[in-house]
Amino acid sequence: MGCYIINGGKALQGNIDIQGSKNSAVAVIMASLVVCGSVEISNVPDISDVHNCLKILRSLGCSCYYTDSNTVNINTENAYLGYIPTSLLCEMRASSYLLGAELARFGRCEHACAGGCDFGSRPMDFHFDVLRTLGATEEKVNGKSYFTARGGLKGNEIILPRASVGATVNAIICASRAKGKTVIKNAAREPHICDLACFLNACGANITNYGTDTVTVYGNKHLHGGSFKLRGDMIEAGTYMLTPLICGGNVCLHNAPIHDLECIISILRSIGAGIDIENGVITVSKSMLKPFEITTAPYPDFPTDLHPQFTVLASVCNGTSNITEAVFDSRFAYLSPLRKMGLNCIIEDDKVTVSGNTKFTNLEVFATDLRGGAALILAALSAKGVSKIYNAEYINRGYSNVVEKLRGIGAEIEYQ
Ligand code: EPU
Repeated sequence: MGCYIINGGKALQGNIDIQGSKNSAVAVIMASLVVCGSVEISNVPDISDVHNCLKILRSLGCSCYYTDSNTVNINTENAYLGYIPTSLLCEMRASSYLLGAELARFGRCEHACAGGCDFGSRPMDFHFDVLRTLGATEEKVNGKSYFTARGGLKGNEIILPRASVGATVNAIICASRAKGKTVIKNAAREPHICDLACFLNACGANITNYGTDTVTVYGNKHLHGGSFKLRGDMIEAGTYMLTPLICGGNVCLHNAPIHDLECIISILRSIGAGIDIENGVITVSKSMLKPFEITTAPYPDFPTDLHPQFTVLASVCNGTSNITEAVFDSRFAYLSPLRKMGLNCIIEDDKVTVSGNTKFTNLEVFATDLRGGAALILAALSAKGVSKIYNAEYINRGYSNVVEKLRGIGAEIEYQ
């Protein structure tokens, strides 16, 4: 079990380079399966979710190799419908993208066993409906369920019951090779949806209106190789923006996706955070912070993936804050280790009420999930003395070079 060891209580100062977007990377890497040729993806974050996506593609006969530390070349010409170990599929949510990718490429896919962080039930019904709407049918062979599209996939109108990121990704991937036009209504508008569409367009697809709630895809069976640079990771940037606000000091973020961070920057400014943006660099400085009320929602509103980190921020504000979780049924497991470190909060239904002016205590704690683990790192950075955060593998799923980045702003941290 991996562990971050942090000797906290110090003001932080320096520069952090923001990684490429995790959620763009996993979508684009999986989508490369529908392309027949060689794709080059740059600004790829060095995280375990990416490594797992590449292992999955290798199990399907693709060649994947790094040409430098952040650039991956994937050749899918000889891809086949191979066996993928269940442990790989169950480790992350992005394995659900195989549904659309395999169906579009091979006309057949097995019901994926998608994993990911445990936020209560994370059903796949929208994904399955997308496949059916594009012409796939289900069949059982030897007790296993498959989707097949014997007559090929056909473009159609898809109306998503809610703006699901994963279902939008699967719809775009699948429709990119379907015959004719697909219109996806109530589509997710997250920045990673735009990266996915731009990547597929670079490979010959014709996808328009991405980034809006109605995406149009004109299918094309002959997608070719291409190259694409992933945008910066807004959740990693949002997490590191909080370091000086929680610990004191000032931190400059380079290569952050400033436009994608608009909602977060505006919330932080409204509570008194010092944020300067010049020449593409975001500088965040400690100041007296007012309490806040936020509700998580799909992009462009406040992202659920910054909810746990903002709970830690709330605990150093001057007053009581409320955070309502409106995307997932149950995203509060992370509170238990934080409470042990001194967080003072009450949960009522989907809302956590956090008392401010808290001083965190150094402790040995276990991360419960990826973003909850990031919240523990923030708390440990502010607590005086040595904290140990076990289950660090959760954190490594989405944050690259944590030790190097935090040492770069003066933190005392090591990984064991
Ligand atoms: N939902 C359904 N049925 C479905 C699909 C979704 O009811 O078939 C519900 C979910 O249960 C949830 C809501 O719809 O209540 C939204 O879920 P969504 O499908 O948008 O989430 P996701 O695709 O499973 C992605 C990210 C998550 C991020 C969410 C929300 C990836 C690989 N994962 O998950 O990222 O929290 O969107 O923005 O892109 C993370 O990075 O830490 C992370 C968990």
